[in-house]
Amino acid sequence: MPSEHRERKASDASKSLTAGDDEYAAHLERSRTVWDRWSDWYTLSERDFEPMREDAMDRLELQPGDRILDIGCGPGVNFERLRNEIGPDGELVAVDYSPEMVVKARKRVEEHGWENVEVRRADAARAEFDAPFDEAIATLSMSVMADIRDTAETIYRALTPNSRFVVFDVRPVPDGPTRVFNPVIRRFLQWYANWNPDESVIEALATVFDECAIVATYNGGCTYTSVCEKRNQSTGG
Ligand SMILES: C[S@@+](CC[C@H](N)C(=O)[O-])C[C@H]1O[C@@H](n2cnc3c(N)ncnc32)[C@H](O)[C@@H]1O
Repeated sequence: MPSEHRERKASDASKSLTAGDDEYAAHLERSRTVWDRWSDWYTLSERDFEPMREDAMDRLELQPGDRILDIGCGPGVNFERLRNEIGPDGELVAVDYSPEMVVKARKRVEEHGWENVEVRRADAARAEFDAPFDEAIATLSMSVMADIRDTAETIYRALTPNSRFVVFDVRPVPDGPTRVFNPVIRRFLQWYANWNPDESVIEALATVFDECAIVATYNGGCTYTSVCEKRNQSTGG
C-alpha cells in the first residue's frame, strides 16, 4: 500500500464509521437483519446480475491451484465459476456477515461436494486470514460495508504481491440528466441493501490499491467493474 495512503486522513475519519463506534455496530446489525431477510429471496438478484458478475470474474487471472477470496459472498453465487477455475487443488475462502447467507452458501458447497470451499461468517473489515490470497473478488458487496476503506485495506493486506482485486458494484448515476434521480436511488439502496451512503467504493479502492481502473460500466453507469492491482514493490499495510 503506498505509504501516503496508510493513514486515514482526518477528514475521512470524521465522516466514516469506525469499528467500535455505536454507529458502526448499528450498521452491522442492520446488515445482518437486511441480508438475513433477503437470503430467502435472492434468486432474482442472482439471475439478473449474472452476466455482470461473469464479466467481473472474466477479469480475474485465476490459475488452477490458486487461493481466492470472495468478499460478501451472499448465498455463494460466484462459487461455481470460481471453483471451476481454481479446480480441486485451489482454495476458495468466502466471507459474509449474514448468518442466513452463510447457511445458504454452505448448503451450496455441501450440495456440490466442494471440499476446498470454506465459508466463514465475519465482518469483512475485521476478518483475519492465515495465508495470503492470489486474487480477490467482491460482487455487489463493497458498497454495503460499514467501513469501505477499512475493508479495502483488509483485502489489500490479505493479497499476495502482484495480485488483483476485482469489484463489481452499484453507484449513483455518475453523469447526465438522470442524476436527478440520485436522491431516490440512494434512499432505495439504503433501505434495500443497507447501502453505505458516506463512502465511495471507487475512492476507497483508488486510495488503498496501487492501481485501480473502472474497466466496464453497465446500466447507464450505475453498475461497474473495477480492477485493482497490488504491486510487487509494495510492502503492504
Ligand atoms: C448484495 S449482497 C451480494 C452477494 C453476492 N456477492 C452477489 O454478488 O450477489 C451483499 C452481501 O454482503 C454481505 N455483507 C454486508 N456487510 C458485510 C460485512 N460487514 N462483512 C461481510 N459481508 C457483509 C451481506 O450479508 C450480503 O450477503
